Amino acid sequence: MLDRIEELKTKAISELSAITDSRKLEEWRIAYLGRKGALTQILRGLSAMPVEERRALGAVANDIKALLEGSFAQRQQAIKEAELARVVAAGRLDVTLPGYPSPVGRLHPTTQMVRQICDAFVAMGFQVVEGPEVEWDYYNFEALNIPQYHPARDMWDTLWIDYTGPKGERNMLLRTHTSPMQIRVMEKTRPPVRVVVPGKCYRYEATDATHESMFYQVEGLAVDENISLADLKGTLFEFARRLFGPERRVRFRCDYFPFVEPGVEMAIDCFACEGGGCRLCAGSGWIEILGAGMVHPDVLRRVNYDPEVYTGFAFGVGPERIAMLKYGIEDIRLFYGNDLRFLRQF
Ligand code: FA5
Repeated sequence: MLDRIEELKTKAISELSAITDSRKLEEWRIAYLGRKGALTQILRGLSAMPVEERRALGAVANDIKALLEGSFAQRQQAIKEAELARVVAAGRLDVTLPGYPSPVGRLHPTTQMVRQICDAFVAMGFQVVEGPEVEWDYYNFEALNIPQYHPARDMWDTLWIDYTGPKGERNMLLRTHTSPMQIRVMEKTRPPVRVVVPGKCYRYEATDATHESMFYQVEGLAVDENISLADLKGTLFEFARRLFGPERRVRFRCDYFPFVEPGVEMAIDCFACEGGGCRLCAGSGWIEILGAGMVHPDVLRRVNYDPEVYTGFAFGVGPERIAMLKYGIEDIRLFYGNDLRFLRQF
């Protein structure tokens, strides 16, 4: 019997040392230490033996049981640690590996220009407001002294919306300029008014290097008591200096827009050739950058501003044209061609 127990011990220990996973380990525990296990059977069988023999064998068997239990616990711990180490190794992150670079977006050159223009006027106390791109004939033309059949309508080739009003009128359009917002702002507020209005405009144009059918404008309007042409000149001069540099000179010449009187165009001395004449300024030394004028008294009357009390000036700038001048862009169609090679340069 003693030999059988010793043999069992040797077999159990050698089997245990070869086990490397918890499933096999559990099978081993059941085989030797379980309720029907080999060692348990031996211990149970002791009760049928004579007292002397039982005592001697019992002590040996209990020692072996303690030994097997201790070895089992050790093996169990070692396997657990090895399994944990395997899981950790499989899911290991190498935090020193370089990451995948995420592509960085950038603002569209028009957006950048619109913001620069607005910032220059905000610094002079103007407020930024926006208005609808789908407009009524009344705001785009009528209220701006351009009645139906007025020849000045030819200045703004219009995209009409396919809409007929209750009296059969076709009076909805895509705004051809941001000037309708002059009326909308004055209808809603009393002077003093100082606003700039950035936004998209649409014209039924044959596109070329300087004309798009969709482009931006930034409108400006200032109305108060005692506003004169000198205020218009001073404000726009300051704007030109902020955008094109402190050494800029400006030139105003007469121009015609039905909603201003007098109307002017403003040019700056060419910053590429310092006024000497080059390709950018077509040899003239001057570059036109905007249209402007003193708000026409009839326009003021239409929004119930008394032209005897209030006067004002307005202007309209094309941000794409300004960006073209500033960055030497030769074709306006590049702005909306969605070519990333162009857009990434800004
Ligand atoms: C106007 O649209 C007037 N509303 C401007 C104005 C406002 C005058 C307030 C007086 C008082 P004009 O049609 O010239 O004016 O356009 C103004 C600017 O918009 C131009 O100088 C140009 O920079 C830009 N622009 C006009 N048409 C186009 C186009 N097809 N493509 C790109 N830019 C354009």
